[in-house]
Amino acid sequence: MSSETAVNEATGAAVPAGAATGGSQPVGAARRRGPFREGERVQLTDERGRMNTITLESGGAFHTHRGFLNHDDIIGKVDGSVVVNNVGQQYQTLRPLLSDFVLSMPRGAAVVYPKDAGQIVTMADIFPGARVVEAGVGSGALSISLLRAVGDNGYLHSFERREEFADIARGNVETIFGGPHPAWQVSLGDFQEEVVRSEAPGSVDRVVLDMLAPWECLDAVATVLAPGGVWINYVATVTQLSRTAEAIRADGRFTEPDAWESLVRGWHLEGLAVRPDHRMVAHTGFLLVTRRLADGVTGISVKRRPSKTDFNEEDVNAWTPGAVGERQVSDKKLRRAARDAIAGTNVKDDPEVTN
Ligand SMILES: C[S@@+](CC[C@H](N)C(=O)[O-])C[C@H]1O[C@@H](n2cnc3c(N)ncnc32)[C@H](O)[C@@H]1O
Repeated sequence: MSSETAVNEATGAAVPAGAATGGSQPVGAARRRGPFREGERVQLTDERGRMNTITLESGGAFHTHRGFLNHDDIIGKVDGSVVVNNVGQQYQTLRPLLSDFVLSMPRGAAVVYPKDAGQIVTMADIFPGARVVEAGVGSGALSISLLRAVGDNGYLHSFERREEFADIARGNVETIFGGPHPAWQVSLGDFQEEVVRSEAPGSVDRVVLDMLAPWECLDAVATVLAPGGVWINYVATVTQLSRTAEAIRADGRFTEPDAWESLVRGWHLEGLAVRPDHRMVAHTGFLLVTRRLADGVTGISVKRRPSKTDFNEEDVNAWTPGAVGERQVSDKKLRRAARDAIAGTNVKDDPEVTN
């Protein structure tokens, strides 16, 4: 082992020196800096704002109906340079960011979008050096953000039940970091069965689940998560959200769960025409977060939680159509509507009746 090679304390893996790490730099950092090198991906933006991503090859060329651009004119240039093709067309050149990479990388399963990955890293408090377990791996998009957050001396153990997905994820992680990440290991199999075999009880700081049925993992999460540890779930539908939340509540070993979603709306910025974009990625998924309580305690908010059986008569009486925003329609109008309906009369010009 060279004198520059470090060891990851959590995994025991060697942190490679050299190309991937740039000596003492964190894994992959050197690849994010400096002039463009052969084999790197570069994002080209033309004068009309059209974007293309190319992989630099010595002697290669990027062809369009408006001429060609030699890769050799980009290799060695500083990130952010403007280059011209054989007919004078200009291109802005930029090294793709992680958010660009994730949206264009090979994928088998749906990826966690950058906006959600950012929320997960922050709201689950993924810190450098943390011990994190994750499932499923899918295409590895979220794994990349988690690895960046735990750092070379952290620990990310990712579980995936399908081998093909694990292979895709490995490829994507190695592309972005320039080789294997010293904090990462992937295990094949069902999270709920495998995680309790490999992680000691109470030894994990954070659990991150992006899968169809997180409620099936509840016991395993409760076993490996340290007291105070954070468990975050990313789910696509309200039915998954509700089922996971109710399972967490019924279990009693966790705090009252919090749920939210994030909608990111881009803005059009042009002179005085400053307004929201017409289109946006509205729904991606919901996040649900809870924390492991110490063994033997009962969560305070769990005690206060109302359930279906806790509705009293007063609540039910308060729950009138008016209170929940329904318009009152008189009996007379309803009788008329019924007569019209039976007679097949079109009543749509009377909104009060049709509403
Ligand atoms: C939506 S994908 C995950 C995407 C991933 N987070 C990303 O950003 O690329 C869900 C994955 O979970 C895996 N999966 C579902 N249930 C699982 C379980 N119980 N244990 C392990 N993997 C599971 C599926 O095979 C699938 O690859």
